[in-house]
Amino acid sequence: MIEEIKKYREEASAAIEAASSLVELETAERSHLGKAAPLQGLKKSFGSLPPEDRKTTGMALKEANVSLAAQLANKKADYEKAERAKQLESERLDLTENTEALRVGRSHIITQAMQELEDTFVGMGFNVAEGPEVETDWHNFDALNIPVGHPARDGFDSLFVDYGAPGSTLLRTHTSPVQIRTMLEQKPPIYVITPGRVYRRDTADATHMPVFHQLECLVIDKDISMAHLAGTIEAFTTSYFGDGFTSRLRPNYFPFTEPSAEFDIQRPDGSWLELGGCGMVHPNVLKAGGIDSEEWSGFAFGFGIDRLASLKFGVTDLREMFSNDSRFLAQF
Ligand code: DAH
Repeated sequence: MIEEIKKYREEASAAIEAASSLVELETAERSHLGKAAPLQGLKKSFGSLPPEDRKTTGMALKEANVSLAAQLANKKADYEKAERAKQLESERLDLTENTEALRVGRSHIITQAMQELEDTFVGMGFNVAEGPEVETDWHNFDALNIPVGHPARDGFDSLFVDYGAPGSTLLRTHTSPVQIRTMLEQKPPIYVITPGRVYRRDTADATHMPVFHQLECLVIDKDISMAHLAGTIEAFTTSYFGDGFTSRLRPNYFPFTEPSAEFDIQRPDGSWLELGGCGMVHPNVLKAGGIDSEEWSGFAFGFGIDRLASLKFGVTDLREMFSNDSRFLAQF
């Protein structure tokens, strides 16, 4: 019987060893260690053994079972570990697969231009002031020496707002009313720039938009002359556009300045760019701002930002800048 135990034990051990999966292992367990297995069947024959052999045979059988159970358990653990690893691997979520490069937003080119302009003027010692976009006709016109009936009013193609008396409230047509607000709020000397959005009743085309941006500059101090105006425009020109750029003034007319001029920028290639208007602040404007024109004098200038930005970034149609197409915006 000891021989049989040895034989069945070896068979069972080989079967366990040969099992190449958890399922095969369970089959081997059933056929070699289960109730119907030949090894277990031997127990039934114990009664026929001579009593002196029963102990050794019983111990051999027990030892075979214990050793086979251990072998089985080891192998089972290996397979379970492997299967678990396989399952984990198959269920693994690749958290990196959706990391399409993060899209980083950026400032609109008008905003970029405005910030650069502000930096330039702040570097020259100016403060930045702001005013409302919905303005009274007094700030937008009267205080700027454009009384009711003045022909210059027509030129501004105003968009009036249905608020208060008819014609009393409008979307500001230029940033010049902030000159008045600043003078009424601050005591001279005043050195400010006022960038902002302005509105005119214009049909959008490649070079016009009904909403656009201007930058106004106002200086009020003692003994300010036209030379300070020309010098400031020239300093701004080289500082903002760079070396090789220069500026010039050409006589013009604006109701809020006297004398008035238009200023142009000359590019290194010799070509001229008309930029904006300027002049010495009209005594009536100083008066509206509560400033004594006998004691103080000043200059002002204003220009459009959109055309500057479009030239700088090579945009040929202003409408593109406000189309809200992220493919356009992402270029700059
Ligand atoms: N406000 C004028 C416009 O929108 C531009 C301008 C001209 C502003 C002369 C000024 C100035 O400050 O002095 O057409």
